[in-house]
Amino acid sequence: MSYARIIGTGGYLPEHIVTNFDIEQKVDTSAEWIFERTGIEQRHIAAPDETAADLAEHAARRALDAAGIDGDTLDLIVVATTTPDHVFPSVATQIQARLGAYGCPAFDVQAVCTGFVYALGIADKFVRTGSARRALVVGSETFSRILDWTDRTTCILFGDGAGAVVLEASEEPGILSSHLHADGRYKELLWVPAGVSSGYDQTCLNQAYVAMRGSEVFKMAVRTLGRIVDETLSANQMTAEAIDWLVPHQANERILVATARQLNLPMSRVISTVRYHANTSAASVPLALDVGVRDGRIQPGQTVLLEAFGGGFTWGSVLLTY
Ligand code: COA
Repeated sequence: MSYARIIGTGGYLPEHIVTNFDIEQKVDTSAEWIFERTGIEQRHIAAPDETAADLAEHAARRALDAAGIDGDTLDLIVVATTTPDHVFPSVATQIQARLGAYGCPAFDVQAVCTGFVYALGIADKFVRTGSARRALVVGSETFSRILDWTDRTTCILFGDGAGAVVLEASEEPGILSSHLHADGRYKELLWVPAGVSSGYDQTCLNQAYVAMRGSEVFKMAVRTLGRIVDETLSANQMTAEAIDWLVPHQANERILVATARQLNLPMSRVISTVRYHANTSAASVPLALDVGVRDGRIQPGQTVLLEAFGGGFTWGSVLLTY
């Protein structure tokens, strides 16, 4: 039985930091309100000429370095993004060219904040079935570009960044299972109304920005994340005590705490980066994973549970031995 094992992680955050104090100068809010309701203190924002492909390339190069391999040895690239540089070509093909991995399949996945978990689940299946031996999986977002910076209910929550992992086929356990779900009935709770195909009213530019019914999303996220964790544990005949690290999607510290509480897991076993990164959508899980790996908390052989929830709604999890 062959597994897909993570052999390198990488992350990248744009240089420019926007604090809650910066935001309180722009909209009717306060730094304290943002921190109390979300746990967020700051977010990184891409420079005007910095795109999702640029962020993805930095994170990918760091993951390749950590794995000790060259880009031309990759045989699959999957990028999760909601904010690609172009309608087409994909971000994945652009970073393929920059990394010199010519010829292998490269494509983007769009599942908003669950995007990286979807991408990892897909890449795992390529590796397990022998269709790829080495895969690069990236989550990269420039979410700041689809925010209405006059809307205090959304602009406080998000940031930009990218995270990446390199997977390799191995006889040693790696990804143990992945669980992907969606329920499209909830579209209008969290969405960008405008689109390439549906267009938008030029007199109503805020249709091109994130619209969200925050408290409904919050309740749904807590309920759904509890369920996905239960599903993952029961599929692996495990209990929560077996989890060394929970690496959740970083949307709101209160959602992280609620999920950990449902699991009876102390916060000391949860990797939380939301305070410094805010919600970086598809980049949030791989960025948090990279932080946990690089600061030495996540050790080889440990059991790690990744989970995410996002627009659509979409949600999912990946259980792995690091
Ligand atoms: N500053 C000050 N007040 C604000 C505010 C802000 N930035 N944003 C909203 N408020 C106000 C509201 O207008 C409301 O006022 P009212 O009672 O006079 O109507 C009040 O605060 C409470 O709003 P509510 O939306 O119920 O607050 P909340 O406790 O649910 O917190 C969120 C709001 C957005 C922080 C929270 O709902 C949340 O995090 N939701 C999930 C968002 C998310 O994770 N999205 C991505 C999922 S992938």
